[in-house]
Amino acid sequence: MTDKSTGLIFDLADHGELHTRLCAALGLPAGLLHRRRFPDGESYLRFGQDINGRDVLLLCSLDRPNEKALELMFAAAAARDLGARSVGLIAPYLAYMRQDKRFQPGEAVTSTAFAKFLSSNVDWLVTVDPHLHRRNDLGEIYDIPTQVVHAAPEMAAWIAQNVDRPLLIGPDSESAQWVSAVADAAGAPFVVLEKHRLGDRRVEVSVPEVQRWARYTPVLVDDIISTARTMIATVDHLKTTGLPTPVCLGVHAIFAGNGYDELVSAGVARIATCNTILHSSNAIDISGQLADAVGKLTR
Ligand code: R5P
Repeated sequence: MTDKSTGLIFDLADHGELHTRLCAALGLPAGLLHRRRFPDGESYLRFGQDINGRDVLLLCSLDRPNEKALELMFAAAAARDLGARSVGLIAPYLAYMRQDKRFQPGEAVTSTAFAKFLSSNVDWLVTVDPHLHRRNDLGEIYDIPTQVVHAAPEMAAWIAQNVDRPLLIGPDSESAQWVSAVADAAGAPFVVLEKHRLGDRRVEVSVPEVQRWARYTPVLVDDIISTARTMIATVDHLKTTGLPTPVCLGVHAIFAGNGYDELVSAGVARIATCNTILHSSNAIDISGQLADAVGKLTR
């Protein structure tokens, strides 16, 4: 149980403003965590307050997870060792959700292994729109209480405020469920494309008949923008339809490599993402919903 006199929120991944907003929304003070790297690359961590008997909330979005997982494990282990009453993880982006089955003999099913790793290190987890492929629920792989925040209402509100006559476009059939939720909330029509992934950085999409939407602004909506290939292929395809220049909306702004610059160069009216991963395209704040979800687990 987190109560206001014992809870502290530690920023483990330089979230900055999101950390400040979460502290304000939860009415909890920011914790002080000293982090640095030794010359050989090993991590040094020190809690700057006495956390004995306190609830420790670790804020750590898990994009670039290989760089962050060990520090997260060290922080959680130290918190337990120092007598923390509980250790919770707020990971607005949850990594390793895509390899959820063994496609080729011998492959590691990383989503299950990563879930075991986190479950053994923290007492609860809050995240935003995890990429549930073939799974229905995080409880299928996580052994700890979890809460999932859905960014759809915030995305819909942003669209309603910023886009004239929006036509929402989902990249593939998997996205249909939540693109339709955003569209419903925004009171906008939507279409869903067919996507064929030919490799890590090669994507083909087919856009259905969209001439009837000629006076609408296409709003491409996806949960993750990683290499941005999905968005770029869609933007390129839309150019052949005569629709206005599209707006691109993503929940999680990974933007691997030059993905962001390449998407800008593809010709888009605007790119907006949620602040689950710190990025210059962040325009949609989900701290309020994150705080509500933390409240549900710790009340
Ligand atoms: C895939 O299933 C996801 O919903 C996204 O469409 C995908 O992760 C986007 O990846 P990229 O930006 O690399 O095309």
